[in-house]
Amino acid sequence: MFFSKTLGLVAAASAVSAITPPSYNGLSLLWHDAFEGYAGTSPDTDRWSIITGDLNINGEVETYTSSSANLQISGGGSVQLVPWKDSKGAWTSGRIETQDAVTPVLGKTTRVEGSLRMGTNPAIEKQGIWPAFWMLGEAVRHGTPWPLCGELDILEQRNGELTGFGTVHCGGSASGGICNEPNGRGATVLMPLDTDTSFHVWSVTWNLSDASNWKNQQITWAIDGNTYFTLTGAEVGDEATWGTLAHSPFYIVLNVAVGGGFPGAPNSATADGYGSMLEAQYVAVYSN
Ligand SMILES: *[C@@H]1O[C@H](CO)[C@@H](O)[C@H](O)[C@H]1NC(C)=O
Repeated sequence: MFFSKTLGLVAAASAVSAITPPSYNGLSLLWHDAFEGYAGTSPDTDRWSIITGDLNINGEVETYTSSSANLQISGGGSVQLVPWKDSKGAWTSGRIETQDAVTPVLGKTTRVEGSLRMGTNPAIEKQGIWPAFWMLGEAVRHGTPWPLCGELDILEQRNGELTGFGTVHCGGSASGGICNEPNGRGATVLMPLDTDTSFHVWSVTWNLSDASNWKNQQITWAIDGNTYFTLTGAEVGDEATWGTLAHSPFYIVLNVAVGGGFPGAPNSATADGYGSMLEAQYVAVYSN
């Protein structure tokens, strides 16, 4: 479960008031980070693990660092994850993962959402840029392999395309199965132009209001409150797999990957810097 932790002096000293998560009828805010603090500081490490190194996954080419160039509080009430290419062509970037996990509770509705925007580089300069806001089953931290641990992708974008991907990964095999691995099972939605500098709210909601019949439970994906994908227990069709996706703890990840099987490799036109970043005003967890 999530526990709120205070930001203490850093928050109190922040020059800009944070964009706080909105209130929703019937839901209480369980946990959030509004990324207060001075420009160039790190995200709150009581809430987030700052991931560093080459994770050697998906054929990605970035190395994650804790440098403020790759990962920083903006000073304007947001966190920025920024990919950079050095003079030798090597990419660095930012990735954070919540320390704690959220566990959807039977009989309840639980939502994870973030207010996000992408850097304003045009798509022609984003080949290989792969920003993501997603969740991994906590079990992966204790040795359960992917995709058996479960994965819920709240938003992935590739190559600056105007397509938001909401996806689940599951099952005991890296190929085929209930979640159609390795592609996963999901839906896409038209994304706002990256040149639109407004933030948009991306969410995943577990609706476990029917505690007694898992087939009637559902997970929904939405942008700005508009649902574009619903997955029910009945559609998944396997109680153990549904349990992994809907009854298990998940931790939350924000990152910008570069390259890999999903977007393909970056090319000579791929631009680094803030124009290719992922920026978040808040990440929040609600339940009723
Ligand atoms: C939650 O799921 C139930 C079915 O279990 C459904 O009747 C209800 O409309 C859903 N609630 C929302 C807000 O979608």
